[in-house]
Amino acid sequence: MNKLIRFLYICLLGIMALPVRAGTDRVVNIPDSVYLFSYASADGSSGLKLAWSHDSGSWVSIASGFEFIKCDFGPWGMQKKMFNPHLMQNKTDGTWRCIWTLTSSGKAMAYADSPDLLKWGYQSHFKTEELTRYELQNVEKTIQKQLVIDGSNLSGWVQKVSYSLVEQLLRYTGYKSYQQMLSEESAEQDTVRFADLNPVTATIQINADESKAISEHLIGIFFEDINYAADGGLYAELVQNRDFEYTPDECDKEGWNATHSWSLKGSNVPLSIETDSPVHPNNPHYAVLEVQEQGVTLLNSGFDGIMVKKGEKYDFSLFGKMLDGKKGKIKVALVTKEGKEIAQAMITVSGNDWKKKHAVLTASADVADAWLAISPQSIGKYAVDIVSLFPQNTFKGRKNGLRIDLAQTLADLHPRFVRFPGGCVAHGDGIDNIYDWKGSIGSLESRKPKRNTWGYHQTRGLGYFEYFLFCEDIGAEPLPVLAAGVPCQNSRTPSCHSTDEISSYGQQCGIPLEEMGAYIQDILDLIEYANGDAKKTVWGKKRAEAGHPEPFNLKYIGIGNEDVISGVFKERFTMIFNAIKEKYPEIIVVGTVGPFFEGTDYDEGWALATELGVPMVDEHYYVTPGWLVNNQDYYDHYDRTKSKVYLGEYAAHARGRVCNMETALSEALYLTAIERNGDIVSMTSYAPLLANEKHIQWSPDLIYFNNSEVKPTVSYYVQQMYGQNSGNEYIASSVSLDNVQGAVKKRIGVSVVREGTNGDLILKLVNMLPVSVKTSVKLPLQNDWNTTVTKTVLVGKPQDREVCPVSGTMQIDENFQYEMPAYSFTVLRIHKR
Ligand code: AHR
Repeated sequence: MNKLIRFLYICLLGIMALPVRAGTDRVVNIPDSVYLFSYASADGSSGLKLAWSHDSGSWVSIASGFEFIKCDFGPWGMQKKMFNPHLMQNKTDGTWRCIWTLTSSGKAMAYADSPDLLKWGYQSHFKTEELTRYELQNVEKTIQKQLVIDGSNLSGWVQKVSYSLVEQLLRYTGYKSYQQMLSEESAEQDTVRFADLNPVTATIQINADESKAISEHLIGIFFEDINYAADGGLYAELVQNRDFEYTPDECDKEGWNATHSWSLKGSNVPLSIETDSPVHPNNPHYAVLEVQEQGVTLLNSGFDGIMVKKGEKYDFSLFGKMLDGKKGKIKVALVTKEGKEIAQAMITVSGNDWKKKHAVLTASADVADAWLAISPQSIGKYAVDIVSLFPQNTFKGRKNGLRIDLAQTLADLHPRFVRFPGGCVAHGDGIDNIYDWKGSIGSLESRKPKRNTWGYHQTRGLGYFEYFLFCEDIGAEPLPVLAAGVPCQNSRTPSCHSTDEISSYGQQCGIPLEEMGAYIQDILDLIEYANGDAKKTVWGKKRAEAGHPEPFNLKYIGIGNEDVISGVFKERFTMIFNAIKEKYPEIIVVGTVGPFFEGTDYDEGWALATELGVPMVDEHYYVTPGWLVNNQDYYDHYDRTKSKVYLGEYAAHARGRVCNMETALSEALYLTAIERNGDIVSMTSYAPLLANEKHIQWSPDLIYFNNSEVKPTVSYYVQQMYGQNSGNEYIASSVSLDNVQGAVKKRIGVSVVREGTNGDLILKLVNMLPVSVKTSVKLPLQNDWNTTVTKTVLVGKPQDREVCPVSGTMQIDENFQYEMPAYSFTVLRIHKR
């Protein structure tokens, strides 16, 4: 109710600010037209703002500086600048164009068009020499002015507009602030919002005869190498910088270079990094140790130390050769920080050709932060590269495999698909950083390491082959995502390889059109690599050589990642989409519709997908818990004839970007609405998935970890409860409450699905209220149901961060009672006999 009053108040203020229209029976005191001033903050940090005046004398900013359009150009954050936005209205059709400068020098310019100042088309570079229908004689007159708005002296453009336009802008911004207010609802206000609330009584009527088919792939995972999720995370390699390929341009941390994580003891000659005759051209750097006396040791400190377990075996390998001397023995050991050896083995390096050497180390103690020690035993000059240490105990015992505890935690989610390798990692920071899948397969020494857009190094030991294998190992569909021929619009690297101010200033740029053919061929080759015949196709053969003659049965391929849907994007996406459709019509292409649940990229992306008939689009939105609570009807009205939806990245972001019971419950609540819309929403994945707690670039994440522990969040348990209890049929149910307040109703979520394989009926019950909900469930049970049901409950206070679900059983009959605890998520699984 309070919300409604505030909304009405906002609308009233807007209306009071308006003069009274001529022709009504109220006092007539306005001219036919008023004045509109377009401006932005003087430092360029804002988007387009508007102020209006009835006499061009006293000015009022619209909605206190509401930003009608924000600049897309330039790298992350505040570097996306808008200076001096010049708004012009076309005399012929009344449409608008806003032209602004991107830099204070004014050399680089951009523009966007709008039919009504509310919806905006995509942004493009504006070249003054381009004659457009907005050339000066065809637009309403504008005058440049310096005005004081909300206490600041600002430069902008004034023009006459119709009074109804201002009315419309005020109504629109009033509605936007109302929506904003709803999104800001949080459990912190519950003590006030629900001060007098008594336990609620609910009746749920389940109508097992009324059902619809829903997606079997609703819950999946989105793996991106962010927060050290791959190297130093899921990829079980224990040696950091094994390839000596760290380069200063990957990260601005001091010492981020080819010797990072390595140190040399007992030598007068420093460790040198050379490039003359590498083991493979894709890995140009290698280490050279000139041993002039006994006692030289090359140490690697791993990723914050190397965690080893007593009795476990570790596979060691390196590529080595002698640059001076015929052959030399090398002791390989695991040592504690105090220098105590806990495992050791010997290898011999000989000749001046690279040879791969292996040894197995068995740990004699548990150590959380051991180091790897490589100690040449004879005088000579040794070259070493791709120094590797893997636990033998990887997930499913795979060589070059995955960390068992982390991979098992992912498998326990029972994900139906895995999206990889990003996120931003997929489309990269600048054209050269686009993730090239071919560079991520083959022998480890031939893989191309890559700068990670999140500011570190990717060995790509965990590459496309390993991703496909992991999907197979956990029974999930692979969903690779490739760039749509454009890098990330937020790239810090000048995308267009241009040094001049105008074209280097973002936004997106794209692979030159003459190179698109080769790029598209790479994408087609990926499909062949995954599915092609092991003997008859070039790329199928490569898969077989890697040890997997059977196809991986790739069904989905994502093109693009929340890109700006510009002309540059559209052209390239269309080329890729058409090529895949022609050669592999059976592949489901997943397009992209920008980073938000609304706005220009969302509109343009959906329009393009509809025009081309793209089977599925990838939506992304990181929103507040309040948004999820208040937008449960988001998909209810989606057009069922258009593309299906993959909600590829989402998470509730509360203040402080924490993951707690409130954020997790809001996700659980929203997922009841997703299940209801499982006929149109085909897939969902929380993002991001993994974070090494010592190397976090993004929060919250679903699972945190360090070298010895895996720490699933509350959101993880919500995903797990959904993943382990998903169905392929949605069963209709109705909920009636003894309390009809909107705020109460929208905090109770119910979803009923049937699982195809065994016919179990699954009830999901979410209660985001501070009181319990006494529920009476009416279920037309027939004899073939087991009356002992499995009950899994997640319950805690909104701010709790360490909560786990508890499972048990309970008895039910056709009309059973269940009390949903305050702030809880319950899954009841009714087993088919
Ligand atoms: O999930 C983290 C990042 O969020 C992804 O890389 C990107 O797609 C989005 O902006």
